[in-house]
Amino acid sequence: MAKLIGNSKFNTAIFISGKGSNLRNLIKFSNSKNSPIKIIFVISSNHKAKGLLFARKHKIKTKSFNFKNKEKDEKKILHYLKKNKINLICLAGFMKILSINFIKKFNKKILNIHPSLLPKYKGLNTHKRVIQNKEKKTGCTVHYVNSKLDSGKIILQKKITIRKKDTPKTLASRVLKEEHILYRKALMKLFINP
Ligand code: GAR
Repeated sequence: MAKLIGNSKFNTAIFISGKGSNLRNLIKFSNSKNSPIKIIFVISSNHKAKGLLFARKHKIKTKSFNFKNKEKDEKKILHYLKKNKINLICLAGFMKILSINFIKKFNKKILNIHPSLLPKYKGLNTHKRVIQNKEKKTGCTVHYVNSKLDSGKIILQKKITIRKKDTPKTLASRVLKEEHILYRKALMKLFINP
């Protein structure tokens, strides 16, 4: 990953699909003085994603693509990324799988947050599966994106203890709180205090 020079920040695009609490967290973080990222635009795979409203409120450009024609949409996205000199992509609740071709073009410059202790529980419905399997611990992971789902090199993880009363919903909300802290820490670890 490239290093920051002087007071510069990474021109960052955030990819979302839904409510965008991680996006909100990253926008707030990017506004802090020491943040290594500047959010230039937000890409959504869903034009109704709530996160888009928050981004627009903060005067951040947004674009939506439904990925029905993935090749075509990714080509357009790559064009925007280039035009806006984007050098970092943060996936934040982005529920589409990017093509190998796309990932190669941004090799080691795409990060993702996943709501489990990877390599365990890749994919969807993590909290439901964690509870069904009577796990004692779960958590979240920030990792690089490579060509395999949720399999890139791990940057940071946070572990939490599952409570007897936890349901997939309560667990999702407890893990989400940790995600917000972890994404900030991972960016600081990568670019400010390695
Ligand atoms: C978060 O828990 C994120 O880790 C997860 O979706 C949620 C999005 O919440 N991402 C994945 O499962 C990706 N495989 P948000 O829209 O409030 O940030």
